[in-house]
Amino acid sequence: MELFAAGSKSQMKESYKNIAEIYASYKEKKYHFDMSRGKPCPEQLDLSNGLMTCLGEKEYFSVQGTDCRNYGNPEGIAEARELFAEMLEVKPEEVIIGGNSSLNMMYDTMIRAMQCGVEEGGKPWRLGKEVKFLCPSPGYDRHFAICESMGIRMITVAMTDKGPDMEAVERMAAADPAVKGIWCVPLYSNPDGISYSDETVARLASMKTKAQDFRIFWDNAYVVHHLDPDEPDKVKNILPACREAGNEDRPYIFSSTSKITFPGAGIAMMAASSKNISFIMKHLTKQTIGPDKLNQLRHVKFLGGMDGIKLQMAKHAAILRPKFDAVLDIFDKELHDNSIATWNKPRGGYFISLNVAGGCAGRAVRLAKDAGVILTPAGATFPYGKDPADSNIRIAPTFPPLAELPEAIRIVCACVKLACAEKMAGICR
Ligand SMILES: Cc1ncc(COP(=O)(O)O)c(C=O)c1O
Repeated sequence: MELFAAGSKSQMKESYKNIAEIYASYKEKKYHFDMSRGKPCPEQLDLSNGLMTCLGEKEYFSVQGTDCRNYGNPEGIAEARELFAEMLEVKPEEVIIGGNSSLNMMYDTMIRAMQCGVEEGGKPWRLGKEVKFLCPSPGYDRHFAICESMGIRMITVAMTDKGPDMEAVERMAAADPAVKGIWCVPLYSNPDGISYSDETVARLASMKTKAQDFRIFWDNAYVVHHLDPDEPDKVKNILPACREAGNEDRPYIFSSTSKITFPGAGIAMMAASSKNISFIMKHLTKQTIGPDKLNQLRHVKFLGGMDGIKLQMAKHAAILRPKFDAVLDIFDKELHDNSIATWNKPRGGYFISLNVAGGCAGRAVRLAKDAGVILTPAGATFPYGKDPADSNIRIAPTFPPLAELPEAIRIVCACVKLACAEKMAGICR
């Protein structure tokens, strides 16, 4: 990307002086804004306070007569499996309900594969010479942290506006038996907000893989998280797509209610083929005698079916849309004319990806921190925390109050301009 394409170097020095002054004036105000993680704001959490009281003192039996206060039902209660099967568009028997975190289920699924393989009689992944995972990037930092913690070698794959670069994915999956899987956030990806095209899903489902135990970790975290509930993006369902292609055991689907109800007290779920589900259950029953079924019961009652989930998500969207609009509006005003940054306009999810001139993201994030705006560390959206272009900044607009967000984003823009101006002017940083 060309820095300040229209300006000569002498003009740049002028701009640098102005921008440095603006930055210094922000710094003097000693702000503290935290936009480091995509957390729901308190108003969003308030939408689910009914969860605290929706179960009466004597309401602890599931539809099948299970006493939810007691041990048991490691796969989850029937009504929760039914509701979230509908949300994920799979069959209830293809769903396992977990604890409060889908990331936890992803971690467990990966470590199970490393330790026990992915099917009866299969070879544990860790016994291979090396385990490699395809990581479409920018992507979700905590996916990459799971791989890194288990010594799985991550291979960066570029993202396009239709999903991962499928030519690269197909080439590497077909050639290398050590490539055991791929991370995917198919709808409103973190952080780009990209939704995979039907063609991308079909190719993932049908591609040849050298590893016969290849798995797609399909993190559908934002499955109902549309900013415009009247015109939601729609991604082709991976489980039937894989089934039709003769690869029905390929996908593991994950999701949760973290951003439907409470991240700290929601419920997580995974879905997969019945063969995968039986293998997982065999191991899961060694891990736990059962999840928190009262939480499942109260979620089913509080959410009140798929229509209830849609209504709840429309309320979230009403809180979040003005925040996303505020950020995009300021980007348009502050960064539009000087060709130092591009950004996406997501239609759902929790993030906006800001791509600044190469070599400037890390510096801009440090400048923001010094001015009191905490952002996700630059590089975090790439494997090993290293963005080869030092360009991507993840903006998480959901948590700060709407009244504070414009000022925080103006500071971010000033930091991006200053970082780019310093680079252009050859100032040592
Ligand atoms: C893509 C993605 N997956 C998973 C999570 C975390 O999910 P959970 O709260 O269910 O562990 C997040 C949180 O930001 C996310 O962005």
